[in-house]
Amino acid sequence: MRVSDPSALLDQGHSPLPNDHPLIDGRTAHAPLIRALRGDRPERLPVWFMRQAGRSLPEYRELRVGTAMLDACLDPAMASEITLQPVRRHHVDAGIFFSDIVVPLRLAGVDVEIVPGKGPVLGAPIRTPEAVAALPALDPSALAPITEAVQRTVAELGSTPLIGFAGAPFTLAAYMVEGGPSKDHTAARALMHADPETWSRLLDWTADVSGAFLRSQALAGASAVQLFDSWVGSLSRNDYVDRVKQHSARALSHVEDLGVPRIHFGVGSGEVLGDMASVGVEAVGVDWRVPLAEAVHRMGPGITVQGNIDPALLAAPWPVLERHVRRVIQSGALARAHVVNLGHGVPPETDPDVLTRIVELVHGLGSGVTGAAGPIGAAGAAGATGAGA
Ligand code: CP3
Repeated sequence: MRVSDPSALLDQGHSPLPNDHPLIDGRTAHAPLIRALRGDRPERLPVWFMRQAGRSLPEYRELRVGTAMLDACLDPAMASEITLQPVRRHHVDAGIFFSDIVVPLRLAGVDVEIVPGKGPVLGAPIRTPEAVAALPALDPSALAPITEAVQRTVAELGSTPLIGFAGAPFTLAAYMVEGGPSKDHTAARALMHADPETWSRLLDWTADVSGAFLRSQALAGASAVQLFDSWVGSLSRNDYVDRVKQHSARALSHVEDLGVPRIHFGVGSGEVLGDMASVGVEAVGVDWRVPLAEAVHRMGPGITVQGNIDPALLAAPWPVLERHVRRVIQSGALARAHVVNLGHGVPPETDPDVLTRIVELVHGLGSGVTGAAGPIGAAGAAGATGAGA
């Protein structure tokens, strides 16, 4: 059974979240992000950035010197500090837990490293029935550093919600079958058809480790979760619906009883937006290719949209970027609710002051839908000509 209104679980006291969880004790229950994810239009549009914690910040680069990426993720004090850095600096409406989609693989005992400038690389690709059958189960006690890092972070965040996250089964399987990053994920897409049985077992395994990772973050204090299917854009719609979607739903089912709002995001997801919206989530993150108003059309009215400032425009002159941000907000006004974000992660070379300025702009626009302070106010009016309301 799918829970159609997760907040009802919380309101009725039916959630297994502990009493000192920020959603239960009231710290974050009415934060703009949480209200928007539940379909409400708060007085202030919430804004945060995918990859806000990371290389665009000098304080991050300084702290990371001499520590490998996955070691940093598994050091609770360091992971917590890195999570807090962009919240302090930009005054965003959420922290995103500093970790990585391959952390639960490493915790399960899979040989995986993150190679700087490249991404996740496995000791050996996992693409045979034997290799999939040999994948180890994730021992729940291995998640202790995650729990500790989330608890430390939430204790500092006060009324700002922490977003927990995990990788979707397809994106993780793309790395596992290829053995590392690839452009088109051809080995993964071939396996899906050559040996559907092995494919399905592999995606069930990834769904369960990602689901356990999500659940540990939510129980430890995360007030929302996001499932990243970054490479979903390499799939045909048929393949997504027949061989991927049910596994994403399985990953999310691990947190269904908690009542924590769920966000689903993919890159190049235009063909499958409607399908991604139906795996059991309250919000969908849209990449920069599809206008938010069009995304609402594809997904229906019952979904909050998140996005979709083009990350490339972070390098453009401010008036160009400002006009773009206002148009994104105008387009998002058609949705039941909108969480402002980028259409993908912050590029490492981004000037962090630009991100702070976007937060100030968005927060100055109120709810984003009405009044003189609406998105196409005085400063944006000239540039908005022809934008189409
Ligand atoms: O601020 C945040 O968004 C939270 C932290 C976060 C990281 N990875 C930290 C990270 C999150 C949410 C992720 C998710 C992630 N990891 C995804 C999905 C999101 C997306 O961007 O599509 C994917 C595909 C990965 C796999 C991965 N890990 C890649 C492609 C890379 C980049 C490799 C490189 O060096 O260019 C990583 C490493 C990584 N994960 C870094 C960070 C801050 C860079 C590590 C460094 O500082 O060298």
